[in-house]
Amino acid sequence: MKFTTALVAFISSTVVAYSTPLNPRDVYVPAITYPTAGTVWQSKGKYNVTWDASDAPEFISNKFFIRLNAGGRILPIVLAEDFDPRAGTVEIELPWIVPGDDYGITLFGNSGNQSPAITIQ
Ligand SMILES: *[C@@H]1O[C@H](CO)[C@@H](O)[C@H](O)[C@H]1NC(C)=O
Repeated sequence: MKFTTALVAFISSTVVAYSTPLNPRDVYVPAITYPTAGTVWQSKGKYNVTWDASDAPEFISNKFFIRLNAGGRILPIVLAEDFDPRAGTVEIELPWIVPGDDYGITLFGNSGNQSPAITIQ
């Protein structure tokens, strides 16, 4: 009887352990804090993109990267990759870009987070 009780207790605790939800590392989408709306960048310029890393989870499984947008569409131009999302900043260097005022960036981890519109001269 005692053995059966112990066995049931063991099985229950095992089931609880395995049904505990995974930590929420795969929903980390930090808000971009720079560039802000109306920022003006120069082609071939270097800038520090920043984001709010204050609520970064301990484990982040996704690779992070930053891409350039134009008119809200994500361009095949990677501005930064393989940086630490917990740092809250990464330096990017723009290539030569056709001037325009509807550019932006998207910070990707598990899903993309876009900056407001910026101008590139
Ligand atoms: C980006 O930040 C680093 C560290 O603060 C600094 O050394 C660097 O000059 C900055 N780059 C630009 C383009 O501001």
